[in-house]
Amino acid sequence: MIPVSEPLVTDREIELVLDCLKSGWISSSGKYLDQFEASWAKYCNMPYGIAVSNGTTALQLAVRLLDLEPGDEVIMPTFTIISCAQAITYCGGIPVLIDSDPHNWQMDVSQIESKITPRTRAIMVVHIYGHPADMDPIIEIAERHGLIVIEDAAETHGAEYKGRKCGGLGDISIFSFYANKLITTGEGGMVLTKREDLAERARSLRNLCFQKKQRFLHNELGYNFRLTNIQAALGVAQLERIEQIVERKRAIAHAYSEQLKDVAGIELPVEEPWAKNVYWVYGIIVKESTGMNALQFAQRLVEKGIETRPFFLGMHEQPVYRAQGLFRNDKYPVAERLARQGLYIPSGLTIKDSEIKEVSEAIRDIVTNH
Ligand SMILES: Cc1ncc(COP(=O)(O)O)c(C=O)c1O
Repeated sequence: MIPVSEPLVTDREIELVLDCLKSGWISSSGKYLDQFEASWAKYCNMPYGIAVSNGTTALQLAVRLLDLEPGDEVIMPTFTIISCAQAITYCGGIPVLIDSDPHNWQMDVSQIESKITPRTRAIMVVHIYGHPADMDPIIEIAERHGLIVIEDAAETHGAEYKGRKCGGLGDISIFSFYANKLITTGEGGMVLTKREDLAERARSLRNLCFQKKQRFLHNELGYNFRLTNIQAALGVAQLERIEQIVERKRAIAHAYSEQLKDVAGIELPVEEPWAKNVYWVYGIIVKESTGMNALQFAQRLVEKGIETRPFFLGMHEQPVYRAQGLFRNDKYPVAERLARQGLYIPSGLTIKDSEIKEVSEAIRDIVTNH
């Protein structure tokens, strides 16, 4: 089976993790944590970094920083992972959803302004599958309406919008370092922010709001969202070769695009003129004209020894939210199509060029002979 993604761990990661283990600094303080926070923030051109246990907790922390009142609204794309919506609903907020752009699959920025109400507090942008969202209009709208911009850059390590790094454009941004991400710490995440006050509060919330002067006196309820020094050591080692990782991901994608460009029954991922796509995953849309949906197509690929993953199912189609009365009459046709016809194919850092060829030929064969 060709796996959809496998992490690449080198001798350097082993060296730094061993160093960490030998030092005894194995919990949530230590030089690798400091180094990982500082160097990731610097890489993204943000002044403050707060490492946390995963991308989901990073989102929870980011939304908590908004101090939402019950019923406050946060605008976000429907086509994303549930971590985004639940970060808002756990804080008593209401996610207000936006459909996707059919060409680049990002949040359709032309739909944002009509969804703003007096209760709107923030826009949560999610860069999808390695490609940035169109940030300039989003930031302009946010500034005009006094809204905070949270950027979810979990999937876009090293991606760029008009030459600037994703995760360095909003007021607060978050990352995931799960094993399938470009940079991984096994499990892990980070919150970045431009604002010192938010950074200080995020640090406190991450660590149960212990106080410096009197540790066990609490003025606020926080979380244990800490990352360990061991995990950060992995991150430091990976970050040393991020340029190489980004280049390899782009090369994998270019090889697929070249080999699949004349296959009529599928749509391929794009790179807008203002974007540097890092192709976190290589997603394809199976056209309805093939007579197959993504699930059926995935089944055919599995029979040929190729693993895939389906695209996200929009937040408005989630039974858990429908049962709460949310999004009941919402329709987002682009996201609905992406969910039914989209899947991503193997593109992890361990994939061989011969496997890219094998996957491409399998896709061509299935589309042609269905
Ligand atoms: C866009 C996005 N946000 C947040 C997350 C959550 O990250 P984690 O799996 O580290 O909790 C993911 C996970 O893949 C994601 O794709």
